[in-house]
Amino acid sequence: MSLKGKDIVSIRDLSKGEILEILNHAKEMIPVAKGKKKLKLLEGKILASLFFEPSTRTRLSFETAMHRLGGSVIGFADPSITSLRKGENIVDTIRMADAYSDVIVIRHPKEGTARMAAEFAEAPVINAGDGAGRHPTQCLLDLFTILMEKGKLEGMKVVLLGDLKYGRTVHSLAYALALFGAELVFVSPESLRMPKEIVEDCIELGVEPVSTTDLEKAIRDADVLYVTRIQKERFPDPTEYSRVIGSYKVDMNLLKHAKEDLIVMHPLPRIDEISPEVDKTRHAVYFKQAFNGVPVRMSILSKVLGG
Ligand code: CP
Repeated sequence: MSLKGKDIVSIRDLSKGEILEILNHAKEMIPVAKGKKKLKLLEGKILASLFFEPSTRTRLSFETAMHRLGGSVIGFADPSITSLRKGENIVDTIRMADAYSDVIVIRHPKEGTARMAAEFAEAPVINAGDGAGRHPTQCLLDLFTILMEKGKLEGMKVVLLGDLKYGRTVHSLAYALALFGAELVFVSPESLRMPKEIVEDCIELGVEPVSTTDLEKAIRDADVLYVTRIQKERFPDPTEYSRVIGSYKVDMNLLKHAKEDLIVMHPLPRIDEISPEVDKTRHAVYFKQAFNGVPVRMSILSKVLGG
């Protein structure tokens, strides 16, 4: 199967076979991602990196992936330095990126922008996060991390903790984990529960998620604890945010109730939902997870560019 020229706007754009193809290829990319092996698969190719929202990991790991494979990067991390500031519309901005590059990576606060960009651009468009919507490449690196750490996805008990309402990474991940037959437990404050349509998608795939507020009980036999921060910037009402801030924390006390081989993941950035003392434990894989963004994005770029 070929992914050449394919837009990746949602994890739903990929079949199970295509997801596995990307993840298997990512394994081969690890030495290249670490700079231990040279592979100029994307020499002469240009990535347009259009970030309308802050990012550290997604933007830098896409850029690293492109550079490590011999390609180059154009773009912006701050739209206020572009002609959007002069009143140009976003569609014309996309048209220009399409004219200057071979692949477009876009992050935007408004849900649906990446899909719209894909409609106007000839080049493949990769969604690097659209509002509270989707973040498919984060989902792929999350799946990759579970596979690397646990060896399988099927049957894994995964607890998704935190802001399940506005956290786009958990929306993509819940669907993908259900596709691969994982067991799902959703733990969140009442007001930040997983949207109904995502729960329904999981049920349609044959996985009935359990929703609870009892974190201590939920992690007892869990294989993976996936923590998210509360997405302050997406709350329409700041008083709603002040009601939920600090309502959960992963610390040594909590981890006493976990299995020895529980892995703790987080898409990052974290604020205070994981205590720094957890970083030193064998449970913590979130920095490794962030590194995995490089081989996974190398795999994605080389597949959509036919490298
Ligand atoms: N995980 C993630 O999307 O991080 P950034 O916002 O730093 O890109």
